[in-house]
Amino acid sequence: MLEGISEKQIAVHLALYEGYVKHANLIIEKIAALKASDADGNAYIIAELRRRFGFEFDGMRMHEYYFSQFEGDPAPRTAGDALEKAVLQKYGDQSLEAHIREVAGTRGIGWVVVYADPSAGTLHTTFVADHELGQLAGLPIILALDLWEHAYMVDYVPADKKIYIDAFFANLNWSVVEKRFDEATKISAV
Ligand SMILES: [Fe+2]
Repeated sequence: MLEGISEKQIAVHLALYEGYVKHANLIIEKIAALKASDADGNAYIIAELRRRFGFEFDGMRMHEYYFSQFEGDPAPRTAGDALEKAVLQKYGDQSLEAHIREVAGTRGIGWVVVYADPSAGTLHTTFVADHELGQLAGLPIILALDLWEHAYMVDYVPADKKIYIDAFFANLNWSVVEKRFDEATKISAV
């Protein structure tokens, strides 16, 4: 049970997630079938399906990052941890939540995504259009905020997007985000 995000909203959103899983698999199957029947004759269709794969696959994977952030109880940021040091270095006095809210003001359909950048010892917060346009190659995702209208329109009108963002943070289990950051940093240290 989430605060400010209804069960119906989550059910509708999870059904959309299932659609991405289905279509990611469908593209793989369709490419195989088209290749088997007439690889040369279907080359253009196959190429277009390949272009489409990033949308479906990232649509699936981004929702897995999103929903798993609500698992467990909502938890506040841990003071003085490694993530805080990285945030302080990158954003100064602005908290990570405040910075995410700033980026969330970007016009368009997509996501605010926070990445760890272990090799540079920093993090990046960016806006990803659709599910795949603007992803930062190879960087581990530590937080994903869905800003598609389907994420909140069961509960709120678009003009009230800010209330949805408030609800997102009210339900966010920051320990999930911190764990992702710590794991990403640990991997780079090996
Ligand atoms: Fe979504």
